[in-house]
Amino acid sequence: MKYRNLGNSGLKVSEIALGAWLTYGSSEGAETTHQCIEAAVANGINYIDLADIYARGEAECLVGDAIQKLGLRRQDLVLASKVYWPMSGNVNDRGLSRKHIMESVEGSLRRIGTDYLDLYFCHRYDPQTPVEEVVRAMDDLVHQGKILYWGTSTWSAAQLEAVVGSARLVNAYRPQVEQPRYNMLDRHIEPAIMPTAVQQGMGLVVFSPLAQGLLTGKYNDDIPEDSRAAKSSWLDRDLTEENITKVRRLTALAAELDITVAQLALAWVLRRPEISAAITGASKVRHVLSNIKAAEVELSPGVLAKIEEILVNDPRY
Ligand SMILES: NC(=O)c1ccc[n+]([C@@H]2O[C@H](COP(=O)([O-])OP(=O)(O)OC[C@H]3O[C@@H](n4cnc5c(N)ncnc54)[C@H](OP(=O)(O)O)[C@@H]3O)[C@@H](O)[C@H]2O)c1
Repeated sequence: MKYRNLGNSGLKVSEIALGAWLTYGSSEGAETTHQCIEAAVANGINYIDLADIYARGEAECLVGDAIQKLGLRRQDLVLASKVYWPMSGNVNDRGLSRKHIMESVEGSLRRIGTDYLDLYFCHRYDPQTPVEEVVRAMDDLVHQGKILYWGTSTWSAAQLEAVVGSARLVNAYRPQVEQPRYNMLDRHIEPAIMPTAVQQGMGLVVFSPLAQGLLTGKYNDDIPEDSRAAKSSWLDRDLTEENITKVRRLTALAAELDITVAQLALAWVLRRPEISAAITGASKVRHVLSNIKAAEVELSPGVLAKIEEILVNDPRY
């Protein structure tokens, strides 16, 4: 495993991270959670990505339990959680108000069974809360030692500029990281969010680097029974003929290089120095073990050009 600094902070995160959305506490129970966390940490993954909303707290509970049972040292882990999405019907149990941030962090710490989070993300932008209120609440949590760094997730370039500017104005700890979606089939962050994050000294930890499994090639011929697309509607928008055609061509290219298309897709994400980590998901231990190997893959300029040609040129025309 290789490690990168989180933006311009001193924190080192593993290039491949492991997240719990739709898996631990959702499709997978305690045993698989335990095995995946064990395999991940044994192979150098230090960054584990959680959120209060993942399985409504159950992901934090199962991963926390696995960490405790495996006897992992807290300092060997970079534990992240998030706040924003409604955790109940209560009007204040949502968003980024000071009240919700302060109360939510306590819930996440309790469920994970830790005294502090390394990273705490604002899971979305909250148009109903002044950004100064968010900055002050997060700054206070850093001073209280409950979080070490904080960040944003799927905020726009203008929102990133505004929040860093606000933190600077009051000399508060500023967000150190943005968490957007980024993969071969979704490059929306390249024009504005990526350069803005770098300019503001923020790292990028990107989610769904395998387009939720589409970039593993598992959907090249049909929808396997035990896959996310068979079990949920989360992939519906991305499972287009155009995308599958691209993945088939990428699969052939990966075979020429003697790697899996998932490894090709992860190495492609990590080709950008702006990116601190690719946050993968895994419903099986073998996914973890195979995806981790992407950190060893270097893509030559020739291969990157071939990928570009596949991604940009629609072979139907
Ligand atoms: N901030 C946000 O708003 C946000 C949003 C989404 C995700 N995230 C974070 O990002 C993490 C990863 O997201 P993601 O799960 O969409 O990532 P992903 O890595 O693109 O997709 C993961 C899924 O692909 C399949 N897969 C992975 N490796 C495979 C392999 N080698 N072979 C075959 N199938 C494989 C598995 O699904 P199946 O086996 O079930 O098919 C796995 O659960 C989440 O856990 C979460 O921490 C954050």
